[in-house]
Amino acid sequence: MADPNMVSEVDGKVAVVTGAASGIGRAIAELLVERGAKVVAVDWDEKVSELASESLVALKGDVTVESTADEAVQTAIDRFGKLDLLVNNAGYINYQSVVDTSLEEWEKVMAINSTGYFLFSRAAVKAMIPNKSGAIVNIASYASFFAFKDIAPYAASKGAVAQLTRSLALEAIEHGIRVNAVGSGDVVTNLLNTFRDDGREFLTEHGKAAPIGRSADPREIAEVVAFLASDRASFVVGSIFMVDGGYSVQIA
Ligand SMILES: NC(=O)c1ccc[n+]([C@@H]2O[C@H](COP(=O)([O-])OP(=O)(O)OC[C@H]3O[C@@H](n4cnc5c(N)ncnc54)[C@H](O)[C@@H]3O)[C@@H](O)[C@H]2O)c1
Repeated sequence: MADPNMVSEVDGKVAVVTGAASGIGRAIAELLVERGAKVVAVDWDEKVSELASESLVALKGDVTVESTADEAVQTAIDRFGKLDLLVNNAGYINYQSVVDTSLEEWEKVMAINSTGYFLFSRAAVKAMIPNKSGAIVNIASYASFFAFKDIAPYAASKGAVAQLTRSLALEAIEHGIRVNAVGSGDVVTNLLNTFRDDGREFLTEHGKAAPIGRSADPREIAEVVAFLASDRASFVVGSIFMVDGGYSVQIA
């Protein structure tokens, strides 16, 4: 049963969540609605429509297209009256050495994981400035700071998310808008399924190397997003909050 002290932490807030059809984004959209928020859930996968309810509008769209960001923000305002929160979460990873990575593939990773975050952040901050309040939570990664072989575009794109978070945080806080990120560790989702059939099993196994000895359930990331999105995190600005079972603090 949910903790009664936490169930209303985002009550009455209006959020845009990207990449909400699957995995972490889906868990975030569901948790925000459970805790009283209204959500515009964006994904290019039509499965996003499964989430539609009185409290959630599903919007099918590509986060790399400028007009999708504007449409998502406008939908929040038209349907729910305002925009309080943006969760930039949509993501894509490839697994290839740099020498085998085509320009097209590099640009795809950067477009989804970095440019999309920029486009949605810009549209959201513009809508939040007149309200003098708001919050943005970006889904970053331990790959924002550390690397494995064969994920250079992904690591570069997530490094950009960390620096977008910090730099935009300085601009936005002048308007009462807090920008933060979650540095996620291994979470069992379909993220790797674009290049390997056993993506979920791989993530389950890989997480065992974290000090906590396991991977996360998407809900464990969503919990921290809900906190950072809420007024309880009123003094948290420009932070990359690591949620990785201790992965990033160990040397070996
Ligand atoms: N799963 C992990 O271990 C892990 C670790 C660190 C960070 N992350 C990050 O978490 C975020 C969510 O990933 P996930 O693990 O839930 O993966 P997922 O594949 O389950 O979900 C990603 C979602 O993003 C959507 N998406 C991708 N490109 C899009 C586009 N151009 N337009 C609209 N929607 C698009 C997909 O359709 C999908 O629904 C990503 O940013 C990912 O990099 C995941």
